[in-house]
Amino acid sequence: MKFFHLVAAALANVFRSKRGYLWAIRLAQLTLFALAGIGSFLLRFEFSVPADSLRAMWLATAIWVMVKAATFQALGLGRGVWRYFSVRDMARVAAANIAASLASSIAILAFCPAPFPRSTLAIDLLLCAVFTVGIRSGTRLILELASRAHTTTDRRAFIYGAGGAGALLLREARSNPTFRYRICGFIDDNPEKHGMLVNGLPVCGAGEDLPRLAAAHHAQEALIAIPSASGSEFSRVVEHCRRAGLKFRTMPSLAEMADGRVTAQVRDVAVEDLLGRSAVELNWSGIRSKIENSVVLVTGAAGSIGSELCRQIARFQPAALVGFDCSETALFEIEQEMRRRYPALAFHPEIGSIQNRQRLGDVFRRYQPSIVYHAAAFKHVPMMEAHVFEAVENNVFGTYNVATISAEFGVGDFVMISSDKAVRPTNMMGVTKRVAELTVRSLQNGGPRFVSVRFGNVLGSNGSVVPIFKRQIAAGGPITVTHPEMKRYFMTIPEASQLVLEASSMARGGEIFILEMGEPVRIADLARQLVKLSGLRPDEDIRIEFTGARPGEKLFEELHNTEEQTIAGGHEKIRIYAGASLPHEKMARHLGVLRAACESRDIRRLVLELKDMVPDYNPSKELLARLIDPGHFRLARAIDAAETAIAPVEEVRVAVGGLL
Ligand SMILES: NC(=O)c1ccc[n+]([C@@H]2O[C@H](COP(=O)([O-])OP(=O)(O)OC[C@H]3O[C@@H](n4cnc5c(N)ncnc54)[C@H](O)[C@@H]3O)[C@@H](O)[C@H]2O)c1
Repeated sequence: MKFFHLVAAALANVFRSKRGYLWAIRLAQLTLFALAGIGSFLLRFEFSVPADSLRAMWLATAIWVMVKAATFQALGLGRGVWRYFSVRDMARVAAANIAASLASSIAILAFCPAPFPRSTLAIDLLLCAVFTVGIRSGTRLILELASRAHTTTDRRAFIYGAGGAGALLLREARSNPTFRYRICGFIDDNPEKHGMLVNGLPVCGAGEDLPRLAAAHHAQEALIAIPSASGSEFSRVVEHCRRAGLKFRTMPSLAEMADGRVTAQVRDVAVEDLLGRSAVELNWSGIRSKIENSVVLVTGAAGSIGSELCRQIARFQPAALVGFDCSETALFEIEQEMRRRYPALAFHPEIGSIQNRQRLGDVFRRYQPSIVYHAAAFKHVPMMEAHVFEAVENNVFGTYNVATISAEFGVGDFVMISSDKAVRPTNMMGVTKRVAELTVRSLQNGGPRFVSVRFGNVLGSNGSVVPIFKRQIAAGGPITVTHPEMKRYFMTIPEASQLVLEASSMARGGEIFILEMGEPVRIADLARQLVKLSGLRPDEDIRIEFTGARPGEKLFEELHNTEEQTIAGGHEKIRIYAGASLPHEKMARHLGVLRAACESRDIRRLVLELKDMVPDYNPSKELLARLIDPGHFRLARAIDAAETAIAPVEEVRVAVGGLL
């Protein structure tokens, strides 16, 4: 072992600088070429080369060295990193040897004195192939052994998943000295693989065997390498690890690695893994042709969705990216991040409110964007229920401002981010998003493309359940969930943002795109999963407390109205809503009434007008109770209807309007 250490230390020293490394491998190769040439003569003449063949030997060796050096250099084999020598590299080295051997044979037969011992040509080829492959594999082996010998304090771990990803992880563990794991073997739930060897390590058993195997191998962790696992399969694997008392980590997805979001080879298991959403297939060229070299403006750029849109857009090299938001600190943070991650990108943070037309006009005049993603909005349901005018002013008139100014400045594409709460809305937040959708659609008149993209909750956004639950777990609980049956659709923020770009690249104008959200998730189950991921026991270590549904909150969000249709959207995860719209003139009249209601702070008129515009809007009983005398007979009926079904517009009109 000491010998390995000495050689590895010497190699590591040489390999530290690029110049030193390149010179060392060139020198080593030249020496091997010469040794192979001389060796071929020694073998041919049984280690006693006759004097009259010595001249031929030196001349042929010189030709071999020169031709092989030129061939290896031309084929890029003078630059390879031997630490990572692979089977593919081996094939390239073999091909280089054959090519160099053929070329040198021609030169040798032309220039060397006859008779030339021709069998040396074949012997040289064989020797040189063995030497050049051998030195590369030997270097890799020595460095791997040395890095493993160094890591006596490493954690013992199983790789869960004996497929391609598992083999990749094992290779990383062997070749990367910073990977602090000693791998005991593989775990795989496919019994066909048990007892087989993957790169020399055994597949020891299935997930159920983990408690026994972990004890036998003194393992402390499991590294999950199953990128194709569905959410439920992943949860099962996590459960096996938990039962065996093993810590568990997983490999980052390819998308995460491509984004440069993660650098470590394994990361903690996140709640996103348990949702098991398959990777999004994007029409990269379509998105690129739209965004590359365009000026793109994102409103709400400092928020959860807007900031992720900025990250995704940055990958497509826009001419400039303008981040518009009214939150100064959050905008500062996204600016710092963009500068760090995309130094070549012209990112312009612009502070301002979408409620301020003049400020929007300044920004549009300065940058002349050709694509606008509008993600600025107020989104918290209970907060908007208590601030109805602010909800309308921001979500409806803010959207109207951005959309109409976009039209004024000749923007080609306007994309509004909408929400599943806009479907049969039961709260102010939802109805204002529905009115915003109608506003955007009413502006479509054959010019710029005005579209909306509607989707359900994203995991981990500002103020959403995951960060709240994590804080509650960190504080020792309890976790508060409004209702045991409360369900929501979830997708990850990058997935939603990528699909927004995809949808906008398909836009013809006027569409409301709906993103496929998979199966809805029970919030209480999500809470339990998060507790388990923290290594604690739900209901024992951390209690889950049910607090009752909040004003305007539905047990279950829909993505489109049942009576209205959606049509295929040209992508498996995108559909197009084919529901009702309002013509521009009618919309303008409604907006006029809404504006007047906001100016006069007339809550009854406001709610009535919203109900008129969105007939399936079902105001929360708390909001209705604020409008009129709770003892009023007709209102009581409207409130009852609101609790169970859609309140008929006439009923609300009579109940509320009668008192205007
Ligand atoms: N978070 C989700 O789960 C989710 C799911 C579907 C749809 N959406 C929709 O996406 C949009 C953005 O949501 P988010 O989660 O990113 O919210 P967020 O609160 O994280 O971001 C919103 C951003 O908009 C900015 N903003 C608000 N009003 C503004 C104004 N008047 N002028 C300028 N900037 C303003 C805020 O400062 C904030 O940075 C909302 O319309 C929401 O309904 C969100």
